[in-house]
Amino acid sequence: MVGGYRLHVNGRRQVVDVPGDTPLLWALRDELGLTGPKYGCGVGACGACVSLVDGAAARPCVRTVADCERTRITTIEGIQDHPVQRAWLELDVAQCGYCQPGQIMTAVALLARVPDPTDAQIAEALRDNVCRCGTYPRIRAAVRRAAE
Ligand code: FES
Repeated sequence: MVGGYRLHVNGRRQVVDVPGDTPLLWALRDELGLTGPKYGCGVGACGACVSLVDGAAARPCVRTVADCERTRITTIEGIQDHPVQRAWLELDVAQCGYCQPGQIMTAVALLARVPDPTDAQIAEALRDNVCRCGTYPRIRAAVRRAAE
């Protein structure tokens, strides 16, 4: 089936004219111009694309447009001046930056669910978010800072 999938993204209703089995990441980036979610692996393994679907961390490279039609999607463009973003800036977390939107959105989802996470909970939540620059210690410190 082609066309007319209604998505609710960052508080706005949008229509994307793509086949229903199109990966949500493609629709976000190529149809809606939301390039914050990054393409890393395309198979749900790296975490670069993490965005929120109904408030939970999700990997839009392995979700389809049809599957997400009745959900609320939030990309990193949809959060502004969030405590996680402030902590990221304060601790100068990013190096190359490519994976950071996914790291940040994973942290946002964690803190929405667990406002005062333990180090073990932080490590578990971010376990499958890969950072080739190895910024993991700063990422964990920033999540702790955001939870303060
Ligand atoms: Fe989605 Fe890697 S691009 S998890």
